[in-house]
Amino acid sequence: MAMASARSIVFSGALLCKSLPAVTARLSIAAAPHRRLSSSGLSLRAACSRRIRTFAMSGSGAAAVESSQRIASQLDQLVGAREAIKEVITKMHCNPILIRLGWHDAGTYDKNISEWPKCGGANGSLRFSIELEHGANAGLINALKLLNPVKEKFTAVSYADLFQLASATAIEMAGGPRIPMRYGRVDTVGPEQCPKEGNLPSAGPPNPSEHLRKVFHRMGLDDKDIVALSGAHTLGRSRPERSGWGKKETKYTKDGPGAPGGQSWTVEWLKFDNSYFKDIKEKRDEDLLVLPTDAVLFEDPGFKEHAELYAKDQDAFFKDYAQAHAKLSELGAKFDPPQGIRIDESTS
Ligand code: HEM
Repeated sequence: MAMASARSIVFSGALLCKSLPAVTARLSIAAAPHRRLSSSGLSLRAACSRRIRTFAMSGSGAAAVESSQRIASQLDQLVGAREAIKEVITKMHCNPILIRLGWHDAGTYDKNISEWPKCGGANGSLRFSIELEHGANAGLINALKLLNPVKEKFTAVSYADLFQLASATAIEMAGGPRIPMRYGRVDTVGPEQCPKEGNLPSAGPPNPSEHLRKVFHRMGLDDKDIVALSGAHTLGRSRPERSGWGKKETKYTKDGPGAPGGQSWTVEWLKFDNSYFKDIKEKRDEDLLVLPTDAVLFEDPGFKEHAELYAKDQDAFFKDYAQAHAKLSELGAKFDPPQGIRIDESTS
């Protein structure tokens, strides 16, 4: 997360768009949240230029002003992109595939490789065909197609940010927790920078708990993160024609919403809650999916303590999920500015 910094520059203001609700956006390129200034009611640009002037007058120079303006414009684009993503999600009910896209971009990370972008992670490399064609990514081309028009409109938002923004927005729109996200991720530039195939987990390995630990510990994530993040399967479906897992259709998926078919983990597979943990524990409904890597969460003692807690306490799940998701979204990410950019929102 953001590092403590001696200097704090803060912009905040309201961005008003004709077709959108008034959005109060706050940009912080500093680490100390308690030092943020609030000026809701001012336009974003007015608030920004006032702060920029203040900063310039303090003698910090033209370069700092230019950089502040660039960041303010990036924030503007991020807020616009988020609204455009919300429209796509509302129309297409595509929350699950957007979450899977963000996860598969980030989840290639290897903490043992220090060089960027060789280490993999949330760097937008999943936009290249060579990586989209990895077996684990079957079907994710459809998620990219949904986001490409947003990217064309908001060109300053990197693919890496776009994928993570779409994923966090999809969680929140499905009723999930607010995730403490940072933006400003730098993109890889060519397919030669894509990670090798095989870094993402398999659903049916010979020893599921050993496999999950090997893959997620390589990313720098722990047992609690594994269980919390698996809870994202409360949303979405598995399709045999993509991953090879799940039924062609069930009574819960045959009519959509969105493209019909597949097998979901939960009955209400567009609602983010803790039903995944209840359902995979009970295994009572043949129309609901339990992968070997889901089942092991209630079998392995190190995973079970968290899974049991989440099955009975949704608040605990939401709290741990939000933290684990934020961590996942930053794996292998290079930020510009280095502290990242935060967006806070309150509709008025
Ligand atoms: C723990 C290891 C994991 C395994 C083995 C696994 C495996 C799978 C498989 C086989 C599918 C079905 C894909 C398809 O047929 O289209 C799937 C879907 C999905 N996964 Fe995972 N996954 C894992 C972890 C995660 C994590 C960490 C997240 C997010 C934080 C996640 C989010 C999703 C979502 C939202 C879907 C539904 C996609 C859709 O409906 O299009 N998964 N996963």
